[in-house]
Parts: sequence; structure tokens; C-alpha cells
Amino acid sequence: MMLGQIAIAALSVHSVAKSFGGARVVKDVSLAIKPGEFISLLGPSGCGKTTLLRMIAGLEQPDSGTIALGDKDITSVPVWERNIGVVFQNYALFPHMTVAENIAFGLRTRKTPRSAIEAKVRGALKLVRLDDFGPRSTEKLSGGQKQRVALARALVTDPRLLLLDEPLGALDRKLREQMQVELKMLQREIGITTLMVTHDQEEALTLSDRIAVMSDGRILQDDSPREIYERPRDAFVADFIGMSNLMKGRVADLDGNKQLQVSENVILKLPPNAMAATEISVFLRPEKLTLTELPGAAGSSLPGRIVHVSYSGSVTHCFVDVGLQKPLTVLITNRSNHDDAGPRIGDPIWVHWDARNIVML
Ligand SMILES: Nc1ncnc2c1ncn2[C@@H]1O[C@H](COP(=O)(O)OP(=O)(O)O)[C@@H](O)[C@H]1O
Ligand SMILES: [Mg+2]
Repeated sequence: MMLGQIAIAALSVHSVAKSFGGARVVKDVSLAIKPGEFISLLGPSGCGKTTLLRMIAGLEQPDSGTIALGDKDITSVPVWERNIGVVFQNYALFPHMTVAENIAFGLRTRKTPRSAIEAKVRGALKLVRLDDFGPRSTEKLSGGQKQRVALARALVTDPRLLLLDEPLGALDRKLREQMQVELKMLQREIGITTLMVTHDQEEALTLSDRIAVMSDGRILQDDSPREIYERPRDAFVADFIGMSNLMKGRVADLDGNKQLQVSENVILKLPPNAMAATEISVFLRPEKLTLTELPGAAGSSLPGRIVHVSYSGSVTHCFVDVGLQKPLTVLITNRSNHDDAGPRIGDPIWVHWDARNIVML
């Protein structure tokens, strides 16, 4: 990493590791976040996301490595001196306090004068659109309201960094989607540097400037949502971010034309930069495939039979057996007339694609 990048990073995590009872939970993780950026740590349950977040917050001490806010090394700075706002998955609101008292808590422990506390709490309530909720008990609030109180409590001290651990995980889908928009707008409005932990790929894709995909204590890829989705570095990332049709085979060179021999009958045309005589994996996203009744060109289409249809309103996923181990998943948008029955199980069909959309891993 260049020195210039270190100087401007709002948060830099360098070679951080952590074990619990001999089990290495976070293994040599490095990450830098620019001021105002929204970054997601995305990975399956148990891969070490919360542990990494807790080390950044100061709730857990790393075994090795350093953590810096701006140019200040905070690895040994106690949690209450870091000025980092944290929202936990379960909100962790104090049940015996009102909404306003919950939000004021961090200001009180900092010995902020009473008049300043009142103004700051009012401002934080307004920010999360709970203007009149100050005197209420937190117990009767809905999940979405509790989440907003937790956010207000984290933001009221003007932290240098906001850490969110699965902040929307407890909300039902509709509310979660609504809160995603609110959270992103709020984050942009106040311009706070944010690191969010999530196992929900859609949430990470929607909210983030960058996504760091984690697996088994390591960051596998750290890129823009688009790069992560369109150009995943390996099969784990490809498969974790959305649906994909993964195929393995051997690259052959026929008069300068590269192709992949997946099985006896399945041969795919490859982009020219494929390396001949190597075993590679390739994938195609379901939305890059189309279905027609007409045969297509060899190498960029395959005949098959529909074995499963999964209708979900705006789109339908069709699973087509083309003679490989797993059926290909094809996404079609449901734009046709409502009395058009659409694809049916058992229908013979051709799957087509553009060879340029094949991603080689
Ligand atoms: N305080 C702890 N003591 C022992 N093991 C822990 C502790 N915290 C987390 N772990 C273990 O570390 C692994 C990673 O946990 P965590 O960071 O919570 O993962 P994630 O947030 O990605 O689901 C899990 O196997 C978990 O059981
Ligand atoms: Mg977790």
C-alpha cells in the first residue's frame, strides 16, 4: 500500500489477527476506508465479521496487527476514547430508560453540559425522524423505531466512524428495504465513514461503495459492488454473491479460437484471452442467459429441458437440464402479457448466451 493512501484513510486495519482458545477466527486482515465511504464486510455466518468489527470498536483486543483512525494508531486506545459509533444487531437499548435517555447516555458519560445534551438529542431524534419520541419508553417501539434509536444513539456524539453489525437483520423484508434507503440517505447526508457487517448480499450490493467479501477469517476480495458481482475473483465470491452457473473444463485452442470442454457434449466458446491446455472454472449469471425455442450457434447455446420453474412476481428463474451435473439457472423478466403461461416444466428449450459474458475464474 502507498503511503499516500494510508495518510488519507479514515480507518486502516493492518494485518489484524485474532484467536479464541486456539481457533484462528480472524487471519491477517487488512482494510482501508476513505473518509465518507460506506463499506460492507460480507460473508457467511461465523467467518469472523463481528470479531473484526469488535476489534475496530475496541471491544476486543487483536493478537497482532494495528488499527488506525486517520493517522492515529488506536490499537491500544480504550473503547470510550475511540469516538466510534456502534449499532449492534440486537440494538442493545437500555430498557429502563426513555428514548431520549438512551440517546443521551454517551453524552452523559462524556460529561457534556446539560443544555448541550438536550440540543444534541433533539438533533439526533430529528435526524432519524423520531422528533416527538424522546419521552417514550423504548419497550413499546417497533423494530424499525428501535433501530433508529440505536442509530441516533450511535451518531449523537459525532463519531469519526460508524460501525453497524447486521443493523437491519431483525426487520421484516419490506421494512428492511425501506430502512436500507433511509440509512444510505442519512449516511450520505452526514457523510460519515461507515463499516457495516452483513451476511445479506443484496443489502451489501445496494448500500456499499465497496464490499469486502470474507470467508473463514480472511478478506477474499475488496472491490466495488459491480466488480464483485461481475468480476468475482474466485468461485466462493461468485457463488456467495447471487446465483451463478459454474462450469469446469479444459481449455482447447482450435485455430486460435478458444473453447472450454465441459463434458462430451457441452463445449463453450471462450473469450480469446483464455489460456489453452489449462483446467478452469467459468460462470455465467442467470440474467445473462436467454431462452428460445430456436436452436442457436454452437458454443454459445445449448439444448435442454426445463426441470423446474420458480416464479417470484417480477421475475422467474427457470432451471434447465442441459446434460451437466446441475441444471443451468436462467432468469427471465415477466414482461409478457399476463395470460401468457410462460415456461413450463418439461418444455424442450434452447439456452443462449453471449460468449463475452462468460467470466473465467
Ligand atoms: N468471545 C468468543 N469466544 C470464543 N469464540 C468466539 C468468540 N466470539 C466469536 N467466537 C467464534 O469466532 C467465530 C467467528 O465469530 P463471529 O466473528 O461472530 O462471526 P460472524 O459475525 O461472521 O458470524 C465463530 O466460530 C464464533 O463462535
Ligand atoms: Mg456476526
